[in-house]
Amino acid sequence: MNKIFYFTGSGNSLTIAKRIDEKIEDCEVIQVKSSLDFSKPIAAEILGFVFPVYAWGMPVMFKEFIQKIKIEKADYVFVVTNYGGSCGNVLGIFRKILRKKGIEIAAFGEVVMPSNYVVMGDASSQHKAANILQIAEPVIDDLVQKISEKQAMPMIKVKFSGKFLSAVVYPLFVSNIRKSDKNFFFTETCNGCGICAKVCPAENIVLNEKKQPVWQHRCEQCHACFHWCPQRAIEFSKKTVQKNRYTHPNVKVSELF
Ligand SMILES: Cc1cc2nc3c(=O)[nH]c(=O)nc-3n(C[C@H](O)[C@H](O)[C@H](O)COP(=O)(O)O)c2cc1C
Ligand code: SF4
Ligand code: SF4
Repeated sequence: MNKIFYFTGSGNSLTIAKRIDEKIEDCEVIQVKSSLDFSKPIAAEILGFVFPVYAWGMPVMFKEFIQKIKIEKADYVFVVTNYGGSCGNVLGIFRKILRKKGIEIAAFGEVVMPSNYVVMGDASSQHKAANILQIAEPVIDDLVQKISEKQAMPMIKVKFSGKFLSAVVYPLFVSNIRKSDKNFFFTETCNGCGICAKVCPAENIVLNEKKQPVWQHRCEQCHACFHWCPQRAIEFSKKTVQKNRYTHPNVKVSELF
């Protein structure tokens, strides 16, 4: 049995995980979310991890998952991260966590994907995202091929600036992450469909008696609620009004439930 664990907000990481899954037999693709029970030790021939970069680090829930899991057996371990511009030392940090468990990673992959970050700057427009996905395609093909053949892929050397961003900016990002959802609000176009609550990996949104979303202050900042809302009714402060919404074109919203 092979296993791939992924974390996603807008579907990029899920897409990469699914592409790898198509090429290797007998594989289970598992979403890391708050309801995931990972108390049982993990045993797999091929064991993979796919996740997005947040502030030159890992999504907090994903990092906690990596720190807590017990790996009983894994013959070949790979990790693939994806990001909009730069990933800093995130793979070095990931490697360190697994090394503490006595696990060596055989293959490290990186893919530049459309950005879903809207707090500063903007998420990729539809046109820009299409171009980025076209460029990403052969990169993903190459990763998929190498992983299916259990090839080694060394980690790309990280410059001092990348290490600095991961060491300095990431802790600042994490320090206020849970309560950062106080910036979210919904507009009058909200129709109470509840999709925002269903896509939230942290179960951080409940609908009140008027079927309006209420954020619970255990946010991961994945922006799934913002991007998947079919009414574009969610904003993250007034700054995001008019900003792009991005979800991977090959992912259906129901795949995140
Ligand atoms: C909170 C947050 C922080 C991010 N930080 C970075 C970053 O430091 N560097 C970067 O290149 N992209 C950054 N991004 C963009 C995502 O890494 C990128 O869009 C990724 O492909 C999203 O994957 P997903 O669709 O699986 O969630 C960030 C996105 C979010 C939501
Ligand atoms: S997904 Fe959008 S429209 Fe649906 S309940 Fe949430 S905010 Fe309202
Ligand atoms: S509230 Fe929104 S941004 Fe926060 S974890 Fe849930 S889906 Fe992600």
